Amino acid sequence: MKNIYLVGFMGSGKSTVGRLLAEKLNMRFVDIDKEVEKSKGMSIREIFQKFGEDYFRNLEKEKLREFLRRSGFIVSTGGGLGADIDIMNLMREDGKVIWIRADIQTILDRCKDDTKRPLLKLPKDKLLELFKKREKVYSLAHITVDSDKKTPIQVFQEIVEKI
Ligand code: S3P
Repeated sequence: MKNIYLVGFMGSGKSTVGRLLAEKLNMRFVDIDKEVEKSKGMSIREIFQKFGEDYFRNLEKEKLREFLRRSGFIVSTGGGLGADIDIMNLMREDGKVIWIRADIQTILDRCKDDTKRPLLKLPKDKLLELFKKREKVYSLAHITVDSDKKTPIQVFQEIVEKI
């Protein structure tokens, strides 16, 4: 079974939905953020603080590329990784890409107490700008599923119907 890649903005539910999909489809789940943290022995917040965002971006791309050569994985990508056009093209060629979409307000509500994601410190207008820019790339996914006002189980069920 070819890999399935989950893309979407922070807080769209990629990891929760990804775990459910992996169980249902008898595939292995991998979260690229967690793989990066494991390989560095540091949290994403610490990586950003110590080495900067560009360094983190390279690490996540490197990690993703390792999974392009494998199969049978549900791959949850960070919000910035899935918005990289080159990475999107590679994932599209390799397997199936699913965009879990959510409105910016849903994202802000879901992430309001989050302290782990450095980009959430951006002013709201900048975050909205980033959100709009990223949606253009996410929309290249093979399948789009809306997650507004839905539980992760509902999103998961919808994906199962669509794939
Ligand atoms: C980021 C999203 C995060 C993580 C990092 C940067 C982004 O992943 O990769 O904090 O640029 O949107 P999630 O989308 O899983 O929160």
